[in-house]
Amino acid sequence: MSDDRPLLIVILAAGKGTRMKSSKPKVLHKIAGRSMLGHVLSLAGALRATNTAVVIGPGMDDVRADALAHAPEAKVFVQENQKGTADAVLAAREAIAAHSGDVLVLFADTPLTRKQSLEAIRGALEQGSGIAVLGFEADDPTGYGRLLTDGSDALLAIREHKDASPNELEIRLCNSGVMGFRVGDLIGLLERIGNDNAKGEYYLTDAIETAAADGVRAAVVTCDEEEVLGVNSRDHLAVAEGIWQSRARTEAMLSGVTMVAPETVWLSFDTVLGRDVVLEPNVFIGAGVNIADNVRIRANSYLEGADAKSNAGVTVEEGAQVGPFARLRPGTTLGRDVSIGNFVEIKNAAMEQGSKASHLTYVGDARVGAAANIGAGTIFCNYDGFNMNRSDVGAGVFIGSNSALVAPVKIGEGAYIAAGSTITQDVQSQSLAIGRAFQTEKLGWVVQSKEKMIKEKSG
Ligand code: UD1
Ligand code: MG
Repeated sequence: MSDDRPLLIVILAAGKGTRMKSSKPKVLHKIAGRSMLGHVLSLAGALRATNTAVVIGPGMDDVRADALAHAPEAKVFVQENQKGTADAVLAAREAIAAHSGDVLVLFADTPLTRKQSLEAIRGALEQGSGIAVLGFEADDPTGYGRLLTDGSDALLAIREHKDASPNELEIRLCNSGVMGFRVGDLIGLLERIGNDNAKGEYYLTDAIETAAADGVRAAVVTCDEEEVLGVNSRDHLAVAEGIWQSRARTEAMLSGVTMVAPETVWLSFDTVLGRDVVLEPNVFIGAGVNIADNVRIRANSYLEGADAKSNAGVTVEEGAQVGPFARLRPGTTLGRDVSIGNFVEIKNAAMEQGSKASHLTYVGDARVGAAANIGAGTIFCNYDGFNMNRSDVGAGVFIGSNSALVAPVKIGEGAYIAAGSTITQDVQSQSLAIGRAFQTEKLGWVVQSKEKMIKEKSG
């Protein structure tokens, strides 16, 4: 495990990511609902970095904003021209100069690296290496820098693909891009790196040979290829998403969640699932969703969670049942043992303990008191074309099927609403409100009217 030496993490995010074919910078594309940059920043947080620096390209204001949203304490630096990874790290010169301790360089487009691998890099630095590189055995090493070792874990050089000899191209041990430094003068070391190579760039990887001249030892720490998948295009993004989802599902199952068909369940970066939660097939869980113990989410339910407009997520308390085919939108809270059935949509509403909406219902901008029963086809009419209005339904209320509650409206505790009512005024507690035309019946009308018609036709 690592000692207490201060840690500076430098995250490189200056690349344009042209292969994404997107108007959005590459590192803002999301995995499990969070930007790739956000994932890497959260890793920096998990490693308890003393300082974090993010290197962006000119004009990338949205990347700056995203970095600061995830890590308000991070320092953002602009690399004016993309002259290579060594130059990119030097863009954070000010942060490096102000820091004494380890420096870890990460790429913002490599969002799946595990904390343990980075801790292993720090471990190698502790054991006396001046530089430690995270390497992996590539299935197809094309394009990667090759790690030239002495046959064990001592690293002699990194050779970029374009500069490698035919023999070196045979090597499958590759550079992930993650590098750790514990050297006296990192700025001096980076400034000595030249650009005499196939791409005419200042390669961070040349730090190995440059430092070796000063007697600095370098080491390789290895990890699975999956961890260091770099995302350059949308198909890579989908692969990274798949790996992330599979890891998250496994973790959830190992901590007591049942998934009948795990590969059909989609989780978010911040999903919280209690013990003995059951997620049936085809469940989607968006950002900010918190599900307590013993909750069952039935098949094809969509827990949309927080969106860009509202930070409010979805909370489902112990023992509640949701779905099949339910939709829970931002700001939904379901109390203990609440039951939400098929084709029910809930938004910005609290359903209190034991309340039920079992079929075909919209509950928006409301409180529904404990043990209330919302009948099939009930609509909370919350929008008047200008404003959202709230409804308040007291505990124990019974709302008959196919009713419309025109907000703002308050239904007192224990009141009954007759089926088919349109309720536009408050209802006192324990009363019955009927807001529809009364039924009339014309006895024998059918026979009489048929006789009349027959007479008219034959006459
Ligand atoms: C780099 C490594 C290579 C490694 C591979 C792993 C170097 C010289 N090569 O190659 O050994 O196998 O990653 O994926 O480091 N960046 C900047 N400014 C620049 C150039 C790059 O910020 O001037 C950023 C990019 O946005 C990206 C990262 O640095 O996040 C890596 O740059 P990239 O051009 O993708 O390097 P590779 O050629 O893939
Ligand atoms: Mg790359």
